[in-house]
Amino acid sequence: MKAYYSTRYGGADVSQYGDYPDPSVTGNQVLVEVKAVSINPVDFKVKRGDLKFLSGRKFPRIFGSDFSGIVKEAGTNAEKFKPGDRVYGVISVIFGKQGALAQFIAIDQKSLWIIPGEMSFEEAASLPIAALTALNGLRRCEVVKGTQVLINGGTGGVGHFAVQIAKTKGAVITATCSDANAELARKLGADETIRYSKEDLASTNKKFDAILDAYGHMDLSVAQRLLKRGGIYASTMINPFTLFKSFFINLIWGKKLTSSNMRALPEDILEIEKLFNEKKLHPVIENYFTLDKADEAFELAEKGKPRGKIIIRI
Ligand SMILES: NC(=O)c1ccc[n+]([C@@H]2O[C@H](COP(=O)([O-])OP(=O)(O)OC[C@H]3O[C@@H](n4cnc5c(N)ncnc54)[C@H](OP(=O)(O)O)[C@@H]3O)[C@@H](O)[C@H]2O)c1
Repeated sequence: MKAYYSTRYGGADVSQYGDYPDPSVTGNQVLVEVKAVSINPVDFKVKRGDLKFLSGRKFPRIFGSDFSGIVKEAGTNAEKFKPGDRVYGVISVIFGKQGALAQFIAIDQKSLWIIPGEMSFEEAASLPIAALTALNGLRRCEVVKGTQVLINGGTGGVGHFAVQIAKTKGAVITATCSDANAELARKLGADETIRYSKEDLASTNKKFDAILDAYGHMDLSVAQRLLKRGGIYASTMINPFTLFKSFFINLIWGKKLTSSNMRALPEDILEIEKLFNEKKLHPVIENYFTLDKADEAFELAEKGKPRGKIIIRI
């Protein structure tokens, strides 16, 4: 099969498009002909070796986590799927596991879901990591009708889903974004925008019930100041030290700091699919690449300036 693979950790210089051995399925696995893959920050972070201690040292190696495709073959115990099913899923490329940037992948059936009727392969591949992280972040922020929520990074992969989901919950949304993306943030459902390139978030006099830091790099002292007493800050990039500090921040200032990690329980997937089917959640995809141009997709993702999601069509 054709694949985009790396011979060691690094950038485009150690990665190539070419022939790669076909995968085969074991009992619980399903062989999927891949149609689309979306690129998330975790993909370039793992690819360049930031998480070596988790991702292992097995090379050559295929990366890419979120994907969609068509079932070609189901293992003897993978009774949930049959050839021809349109599926999507997320593969965790840790401990040397192969990713999805290839014509075929073999994946455990528990990481696969049937694509709902009208969803395209590209839309399906755009959802898992970013939409599930947004959904969990808003849950951790306890966002309900009337919650004044700040979504930091409101037009990126996670953020653009978070703004739309918060809207469906009836929240009052302020989104930060670059100047170029302010109009998009409004279209997605933001009531107000703060252009981080022009306005200083630290000097706003607004107070929020919740902050979802989709960007993940907000200054904690700013977050703490912008939160009302009892407010919650959830970040996609929380670290153990911050969690340790959060205990004291809660104790002294009555504000909670927590993480907005991806959660993929069956009810989470169902909620995302329901919102999509009701046309309340719409993936923004402006950048499409082919597998032989995957280098360019990774370069764009790493610059951190995509609007919505980046898709590689296989
Ligand atoms: N913990 C988890 O489970 C999990 C899951 C998913 C993602 N993440 C992490 O979450 C982060 C975001 O992921 P993503 O997929 O949303 O990335 P992305 O698509 O690259 O989006 C990044 C966003 O950050 C915004 N941004 C850039 N500079 C900013 C600044 N100075 N202030 C405020 N916003 C700024 C960008 O806005 P403009 O485009 O308008 O410049 C864009 O909206 C990544 O670090 C990723 O690794 C964690």
